[in-house]
Amino acid sequence: MPPRLVIDGGVPLKGVVSVSAAKNSALPAMAASLLTAEPLALTNVPSLNDVRTMVRLLQQLGTTVTGDHDRLRMQTAGLTSDVAPYELVSTMRASVLVLGPLVARHGSARVALPGGCAIGVRPIDQHLKGLATLGAEIELENGYVVARARRLKAAKIATDLVTVTGTENLVMAAALADGTTVIENAAREPEVVDLADLLTAMGARIRGAGSARIEIDGVPELGGTTHTIIPDRIEAGTLIVAGAITRGDVTVSNVVPDHLSALLAKLEECGVGLEVGPTWVRVRANGRPRAADVITSPFPGFPTDMQAQVMSLLGVADGQSRVTETIFENRFMHAAELVRMAARIETEGSTAIIRGVERYQGAPVMASDLRASAALVLAGLAARGTTTISRIYHLERGYERLDLKLQGLGARVTRKT
Ligand code: EPU
Repeated sequence: MPPRLVIDGGVPLKGVVSVSAAKNSALPAMAASLLTAEPLALTNVPSLNDVRTMVRLLQQLGTTVTGDHDRLRMQTAGLTSDVAPYELVSTMRASVLVLGPLVARHGSARVALPGGCAIGVRPIDQHLKGLATLGAEIELENGYVVARARRLKAAKIATDLVTVTGTENLVMAAALADGTTVIENAAREPEVVDLADLLTAMGARIRGAGSARIEIDGVPELGGTTHTIIPDRIEAGTLIVAGAITRGDVTVSNVVPDHLSALLAKLEECGVGLEVGPTWVRVRANGRPRAADVITSPFPGFPTDMQAQVMSLLGVADGQSRVTETIFENRFMHAAELVRMAARIETEGSTAIIRGVERYQGAPVMASDLRASAALVLAGLAARGTTTISRIYHLERGYERLDLKLQGLGARVTRKT
């Protein structure tokens, strides 16, 4: 039988739990190893399927990967291929992060065009437009994007919308371009800043990461370094909501509270008791949360990657909440599953209206994407009765043994195979 999670709900979680490193920082950092012939070591890499997929992709391009999650060492002395095959890109969209580094260092890249996925259409036109502005020739051949450039030339790029991996791809490409590139409307996510910090340690010259305008003075080559990945703000947020939804007392450690400001403000609005230290957040809740309205937006706004989990919390809030998803067009798949657990949620377009119920009921449910899976786990923890979540491979792409972390807080969660 495929793995599934069985949760006996209703236990208030208690204790201390430590957050793993950020998946969405680790993946671009690994792609950045393609930019140099010298070794790049990443300490504190999360043990996740997406990370293993990126290892396979890098190996296929000619990178030697050694070590383990405590210290992952990558060296790309020379590239042996410029192809990111469909088999890998269709498993993990973040594979597209090799595009910028390959064109910048190798002069060519053939990357399978990712198709749509459960949460939306997710085109990569902004990545391609930006690379074209840097002088790359871009063609589409049999489902593959083929990009070529002798040496990229710095340019002024203004993206039409805020894109996280798009900004990351363009910053990596511009790091080796000739001249000073300016990216306007850049993503301000902490993961972009982490990548800029890594590239700077490799010898890149980058100003403004974390703001909407990033300037990059291209250099002829980059060197190796050792870098520690930042804590995963979405895992942290998920664990904080786990404390709140079970009306427990949980201290989530290894967090950067500044990365969680929008979420923490929203939880306070819901009446969730929070104590914020320099590297930890303690959540204490004893009653039902208050209803609240949530609108997702790029950082520092409320993250789309926490929308599903907070919907689970609002599902048992006192009153009516409205959740508006502005980043992805189809990111409400969890709503229908929560309804199977007795939630009262109606969705129309990009809006969900949630009328809080006293309690969820355990039920068999199905995960549809990574964060939707987390939302179902949270509802299961709070539910009366048993919840069985199937298709948890979605969960395991982005959470490092969430079942064990929750068990450590007293939850009755078992991973069954
Ligand atoms: N978009 C375009 N054209 C582009 C790029 C993006 O139209 O060229 C659209 C997307 O379709 C979407 C919006 O712009 O509607 C924002 O997409 P973005 O490019 O920012 O998303 P991403 O870079 O593909 C990253 C995270 C996602 C996270 C989003 C938004 C990584 C590896 N992935 O994706 O993480 O939801 O930013 O914050 O960093 C997850 O971890 O569960 C996850 C999906």
